[in-house]
Amino acid sequence: MKRSYLVLGSVAVIALGLAYLVTLPTETAEASIALKPNEPAVVSLGKQVYAQNCASCHGVALEGQANWRQRGNDGYMPAPPHDETGHTWHHPDTYLFLMTKYGIEKMIGKTYPNNMPAYEDELSDDEIIAVLSFIKSTWPNIVKRQHDQINARANAQSKES
Ligand code: HEC
Repeated sequence: MKRSYLVLGSVAVIALGLAYLVTLPTETAEASIALKPNEPAVVSLGKQVYAQNCASCHGVALEGQANWRQRGNDGYMPAPPHDETGHTWHHPDTYLFLMTKYGIEKMIGKTYPNNMPAYEDELSDDEIIAVLSFIKSTWPNIVKRQHDQINARANAQSKES
């Protein structure tokens, strides 16, 4: 008798635990996004993901499209570079992740017609982290350090709110 209560009890605990995991808001996972520019396996996966998905617009050498600061004749902004001459490194990890996963409009919650695709249905979270880690791995050390500080500030802010 006692044993069957025990079994029932543990089944209930496991079921509750699973339910909790499933209902965890995605923001919890996304709040802990951290790029891994120093992990060779991650960077090498990211390099492939970049070549296949991003290079066509952001450039094979991360150089961006020509005249990327000016709206094109089609009314859209061109793709900016992801090297240190662009402003990718001005944004914290979570911002870059959410923008790549959901696209700009969903991320800012406003209508903003643009040519940056959302990768929610194309890439896994790990692949998105990998591609952004690859991008970061190409920045000069001084830019990497500045980006680390931007992350530290963003993380401190998100803890306050
Ligand atoms: C079809 C072209 C295209 C492809 C492919 C593309 N992007 Fe973009 N991306 C853009 C454009 C255009 C912008 C700028 C949008 C704007 O500001 O209006 C942009 C902006 C961004 C930004 C914001 C940069 C900043 O400084 O604010 C990030 C991050 C980004 N892209 C990452 C990626 C990644 C990672 C991939 C590949 C997985 C990718 N993009 C593939 C066109 C593209």
